[in-house]
Amino acid sequence: MDLDQLALLRTPDGAAALALAAELAGADELAAASALRARGFPPGLAAAALTQVTLRARAGAKFGADAPRAFLTRAGLEQATREIVAVRRAARLRAAGVTALADLGCGLGADLRAVAAAGIRAYGVDADPVTAACAALNVPDATVTCGDARDFDLSAVDAVFCDPARRSGGRRVFRPEDYSPPWDWVTALPQRVPNTVLKLAPGIDQALLPPGAELELVSVDGDVVEAAAWCGPLARAPRRATVFRDGMPHELTGTGEETAPVGPPGRYVTDPDGAVVRAHLVAELAAAHSARLADPTIAYVWTDTPVTSPFGRCFGVVDTMPFSLKRLRATLRERGIGRLEILKRGSALDVEQLRRDLRLTGPNPLTLLLTRISATPTAVLAHPVVR
Ligand SMILES: C[S@@+](CC[C@H](N)C(=O)[O-])C[C@H]1O[C@@H](n2cnc3c(N)ncnc32)[C@H](O)[C@@H]1O
Repeated sequence: MDLDQLALLRTPDGAAALALAAELAGADELAAASALRARGFPPGLAAAALTQVTLRARAGAKFGADAPRAFLTRAGLEQATREIVAVRRAARLRAAGVTALADLGCGLGADLRAVAAAGIRAYGVDADPVTAACAALNVPDATVTCGDARDFDLSAVDAVFCDPARRSGGRRVFRPEDYSPPWDWVTALPQRVPNTVLKLAPGIDQALLPPGAELELVSVDGDVVEAAAWCGPLARAPRRATVFRDGMPHELTGTGEETAPVGPPGRYVTDPDGAVVRAHLVAELAAAHSARLADPTIAYVWTDTPVTSPFGRCFGVVDTMPFSLKRLRATLRERGIGRLEILKRGSALDVEQLRRDLRLTGPNPLTLLLTRISATPTAVLAHPVVR
């Protein structure tokens, strides 16, 4: 979409095209385009309206109740923060006393929208003219400008948020030095505005963070979705895992430097959430449940009683054996296992190849955890403990 198409979509004709495109949602793409043209909408407007309606249908997790009215671009939507995460972050900023925030590279405004809704005076800037124009429409309570974040006057704000673009020319970039705005400028922000939050890729090298920053890892229903560095007075713990389960946030904090005790495998094994593992908080999870690791290098947490925690999935162990394809296949046959969930930590086995080699048959479900205990490849057969 370009600025002219966005302007057209905002005219009464554009609104009518969007309304008809929404009615036609789900219909064959070509048929929908012909239906729009048959009503007299020019091909450019018809195409823009159909694209917009397709993007809006996918935007619910990021723009919530505003998704059906939002103005979106494909790239902007892909990069936007989930609403549940943005709202939580904005609430934490508000609770820390932030009153005015600049979102430097605000994209379509998914974060900005949550900041404004939290009652914080919100300023957004984006270098891309179409993206900035969409953000202005999506967050009417914010002041949005188009420009380079590096030129933005920060004198009127007491906090900044920066979610640098991690793609260039439509492709993902993985090295922080390729982010935009540039990483050395981004990490120097806390020197200018101490209340700084940076949104980062979950795999960020922690050595690259501004000194003293809190590193937060965030997961939603088991998927690690982002990391954030909370700088200056906003840093409250060296590490935090924020785990959303069924819409509810749960937080685990710690130093990220503790080590868990090591002992024998037990009757229950817990697979920690990816946010807990990446935040190096497995020892804190183990301590909360008087648990142990069976191998000091592997993040499966063992106990003799079931663990009920949002920070991991607990399984009741049925059998633990040194890994042997032949023995495993025979055991699964005996038990009539036709549906097998396979998890692994510390195993190089190709899960899909193993699934084929096991030639599963039977009516029963089971979970297989592939791991290593004292250098021995190990298969753990287990059932999830229902929470
Ligand atoms: C990851 S997106 C932000 C997404 C946003 N947090 C959201 O949830 O909708 C990064 C944005 O930074 C913008 N950007 C990149 N370099 C910039 C710069 N130097 N100045 C301003 N904006 C920039 C890009 O155009 C892109 O829209």
